[in-house]
Amino acid sequence: MSVTACAHPNIALIKYWGKADRPGNVPATPSLSITLDGLTTTTTVSEAAEDTFTLDGRPVTDAKVTQWLTALRREYAIPPLAIASHNDFPTAAGLASSASGFAALITAIDGACGLELSRAYCSGLARQASASAARSMFSGFVTLQGPDWQAEPLLEAADWPLEVVIAVSDTGGKAVSSSDGMRRSAESPYFAAWVDSTAADFQQALAATTARDFPALTELAEHSCLKMHGLMLATRPGLLYWNAATVACLHRIRQLRAEGSAVFFTVDAGPQVKAVCLPGHGEAVAEALGRVAGVSRIIHTRLGRGAWLEGS
Ligand code: PMV
Repeated sequence: MSVTACAHPNIALIKYWGKADRPGNVPATPSLSITLDGLTTTTTVSEAAEDTFTLDGRPVTDAKVTQWLTALRREYAIPPLAIASHNDFPTAAGLASSASGFAALITAIDGACGLELSRAYCSGLARQASASAARSMFSGFVTLQGPDWQAEPLLEAADWPLEVVIAVSDTGGKAVSSSDGMRRSAESPYFAAWVDSTAADFQQALAATTARDFPALTELAEHSCLKMHGLMLATRPGLLYWNAATVACLHRIRQLRAEGSAVFFTVDAGPQVKAVCLPGHGEAVAEALGRVAGVSRIIHTRLGRGAWLEGS
């Protein structure tokens, strides 16, 4: 028994940051994401004498994976597993490796153990490890909202084929994990306002997306990103995920927009900037961001599919 599954990361345009005060890793805010093409986690699961986990060829101990597997085994007969996962992009640097990681892992386990779970059910299980992973089970634009906190596809990738340019400026792991950062943020005086105001941002972004209204989505996505980072800054100690190149890219993207490019930015819990563009605008944006001091790599991609079993 050996099964390989793949998944792409996703980036949120309306951000999830913070957890609800109840069990099950339930987000405090609804989110809207796009699943990316171009970056891929590939995970092979095989039956073994004991659980082992390697990431990019190195043995690792990951408390999140261990706890999640323990919980899964309370529901399903899952034998000891050798899990070998590979990311073709920097791990834990704000490129959503936990999203693609858990989406690929549950898909591989489902295949290897013959659980025959639906995609929606796998998404719910992935959410319990990493809420953003629930969204990587689906293609294109994806929502994650209450009351059931089940990720759902909104638009397929082909329905609005946006381009995404990622400006990578630091490939080291993040200093503070998302979970720790969220815990710290819950103490911020801004937290209640962040949670209260995100519901309206989310509803407006749904309308902008279904109407393919790029200017409206631009305003909402940049607002959600900057508001989340404002909350992060207003914690104790403040969470500062950006570096100098991050700020330079944000200014450059606004300048490009003023000059006529259809582009907006978003940044997760790390320094990399993602520039989302209307079709046809990505090349000029990639070229401009590649010239920003401190940017070491440009990844130019588009929207992609949800998690899949290799060969399917
Ligand atoms: O699901 P996590 O623990 O990787 O947290 C994701 C948090 C953000 O990437 C910053 C926002 C989001 O909605 O993906």
